[in-house]
Amino acid sequence: MPRYDKIVVLTGAGLSAESGLATFRDKDGIWARYDYRDVATPEGFARNPSLVYEFYNMRRREGSKAKPNAAHYALAQLQRQHPGEVLVVTQNIDGLHEAAGTTNLIHMHGEMATSLCTNCDARQPWREDLAAELVCPECELVGGLRPNVVWFGEIPYEMDRIAAALAACNLFISIGTSGNVYPAAGFVAGAIEAGAHTVELNLEPSDTASYFAERHQGAATELVPSYLNTLLEV
Ligand code: APR
Repeated sequence: MPRYDKIVVLTGAGLSAESGLATFRDKDGIWARYDYRDVATPEGFARNPSLVYEFYNMRRREGSKAKPNAAHYALAQLQRQHPGEVLVVTQNIDGLHEAAGTTNLIHMHGEMATSLCTNCDARQPWREDLAAELVCPECELVGGLRPNVVWFGEIPYEMDRIAAALAACNLFISIGTSGNVYPAAGFVAGAIEAGAHTVELNLEPSDTASYFAERHQGAATELVPSYLNTLLEV
């Protein structure tokens, strides 16, 4: 049996950076161009829905053109080839993990290619632009469709499943996240409590870097394949 047989991987915007998708807090990041209170909160959506629709429509269009990079493929290969359980928990709302073949996956912050109806709570695949005047295919009501993205102040998806996986893991790997946003930034503490080995793979030390037993700095497309290969060799 390999040294680690219950692996939880947390990914952030840094994983998709080399696929051409902007991160949030790098100097040219999304939050340098938008105020998150306007486009990533329920209050912002209530105040100016068309700004929020356009913000996600623009990111959905960009996301649909992006391709997985070597780091996405290395994670999918680990899931396929590693005899243990590998759960990927992503903060990203792009579909690049799935496009690379990752299956055991949780989108804790939702997905830009799905809609959420505030009238009937249905989540549906949605690749076109969203707008207020659209009809929900499920309940056929107008005006309830919003991006299926978890905004600041809302509860991320599948937190019970994530907590159970962290409590049982013996290896926790964090990739391409600044460790700024909770609850994701607190996952490393849960992994430590479970007695897991903890590894950070990031372009620069995250805000929670000091929690990790092992840290490697560099670009995900170099770091991730080489590190994950060491897990397949043991
Ligand atoms: N390879 C590896 N890491 C990278 C790369 C790269 N090529 N490029 C950037 N990074 C790192 C940055 O150094 C930074 O630490 O990725 C991290 C990106 O951090 P953020 O932009 O804060 O993105 P993320 O941590 O995913 O944000 C978390 O905040 O705004 C919310 O909901 C949003 O899911 C998002 C959450």
